[in-house]
Amino acid sequence: MAVADQKITDRYAVYNGDCIEVLPGMKDESIHISIYSPPFAELYNYSSSDRDLSNCASYEQFLEHYGFLVREISRVTMPGRVTCVHCMDLKAGNGAQRDFPGDIIRLHEKHGFLGDTEDAAAAELARKHKPPPAAAATKPAAPADDSRSRVLPSRPSRYS
Ligand SMILES: C[S@@+](CC[C@H](N)C(=O)[O-])C[C@H]1O[C@@H](n2cnc3c(N)ncnc32)[C@H](O)[C@@H]1O
Repeated sequence: MAVADQKITDRYAVYNGDCIEVLPGMKDESIHISIYSPPFAELYNYSSSDRDLSNCASYEQFLEHYGFLVREISRVTMPGRVTCVHCMDLKAGNGAQRDFPGDIIRLHEKHGFLGDTEDAAAAELARKHKPPPAAAATKPAAPADDSRSRVLPSRPSRYS
């Protein structure tokens, strides 16, 4: 694993490195959740490194570069578990609206995730956490695995 620095304990492991190189060193189906904010293509440059996804020459090249990360996240994520991606709509070079969340969802679906929007996910969470009727004395047993892998674009929420 190519890392500049790392900290590994019996509770967690933190790696500082190029995610495109670090992820392939992780075991298949070994993580429950990933939460991150990728570079917003074409919006900012975060460093001068060629390895930085924010330095791709075009939006298309960004999606190709990012695809290597999504493929690896799909491989290391346990079946039925979750990946959460912070993102938003972008302006394209010509000033038109760019559906960045939609492109992220499509990229994840290509790599085996079931896409979901923030609104749909929030509605499902609300359903799952609805208090049981007062008459129900016993708590229903939770299913062994009631989650679905999904990617969540972050838009201003109607639920906040
Ligand atoms: C939108 S920022 C999010 C930063 C941080 N997670 C936060 O919330 O403040 C995206 C970050 O991804 C980093 N990044 C880009 N390409 C990367 C790569 N190949 N490996 C690791 N990090 C990368 C960028 O340098 C930038 O710091």
